[in-house]
Amino acid sequence: MKIAIIGYGNMGKEVERQAKANGIEVAAIIDPEDSAAQYKSVGESSLRQADVAIDFSSQKTELSNIEMVAGAGKDMVVGTTGWYNGLEEAGKIVRRCNTGLVYSPNFSIGASLFMKIVEYASRLMDKAPEYDPYIYEAHHSGKADSPSGTGRALADAVIRNVKRKKSAVFDRLDRRIKPDELHVASLRAGSIPGIHTVGFDSASDTIELTHTARSRAGFASGAIYAAKWIAGKKGIFSMEDMVRDMMQGGEGK
Ligand SMILES: NC(=O)c1ccc[n+]([C@@H]2O[C@H](COP(=O)([O-])OP(=O)(O)OC[C@H]3O[C@@H](n4cnc5c(N)ncnc54)[C@H](OP(=O)(O)O)[C@@H]3O)[C@@H](O)[C@H]2O)c1
Repeated sequence: MKIAIIGYGNMGKEVERQAKANGIEVAAIIDPEDSAAQYKSVGESSLRQADVAIDFSSQKTELSNIEMVAGAGKDMVVGTTGWYNGLEEAGKIVRRCNTGLVYSPNFSIGASLFMKIVEYASRLMDKAPEYDPYIYEAHHSGKADSPSGTGRALADAVIRNVKRKKSAVFDRLDRRIKPDELHVASLRAGSIPGIHTVGFDSASDTIELTHTARSRAGFASGAIYAAKWIAGKKGIFSMEDMVRDMMQGGEGK
């Protein structure tokens, strides 16, 4: 399998390192600014040699990247976060072009397992009204969006399963939080690769579940696994689809 890397920032460079370590050929590196990239834009010529494109770039250009990659008939792994209002459109594009796309705000396999643990804990907490759920996440100071995509996905999981919570609040509050609101706090500092905590607080104790990414390596190896998995599939898939398949014994080729 040959890959094209779209976005040669922190994640793009980590994907390149991991690909080389695993004998996967990097056919193209595409980035508008980085002088070490061979191509400045996503298009037929930059994608020609690749089987699958792995994109960790910018939410602003994500849909046009998807349009270009699918238009070139290539499958795609999208790690970029913050573009999910465009998911429906992305689905239409890949179906029209008959290609495959897998996306996730967090390609770490550990984080996917963490999500399942949080869903299970939330179902238990639905039956224990004395516990009030909360979420906080911390990332490096270079992260472009807030809250993290994983933070949003965790909030959705809690709200889906703890029926007394109806909506998430991501901003600062100048009032008391309402009982049916779930507070999600974000912190940005230094080089933190990513920490997500889901807590449940009662008058007598606190239960906290935390996933701590130690480096970007887990995201990159998950994205490479996803590139092998998506090759030849048609349609749009989430990481959940991939992990479900993985648990049932399906593997990246
Ligand atoms: N899914 C996951 O597991 C996971 C894990 C970590 C990060 N992320 C997400 O991945 C994205 C990138 O993170 P990062 O830490 O690598 O950021 P970063 O260091 O800022 O890298 C992004 C790179 O992509 C370039 N870029 C922007 N638009 C592009 C386009 N249209 N085509 C090609 N390259 C383009 C940027 O160039 P400029 O500097 O010129 O804009 C920059 O070099 C973010 O959305 C982040 O939230 C996802």
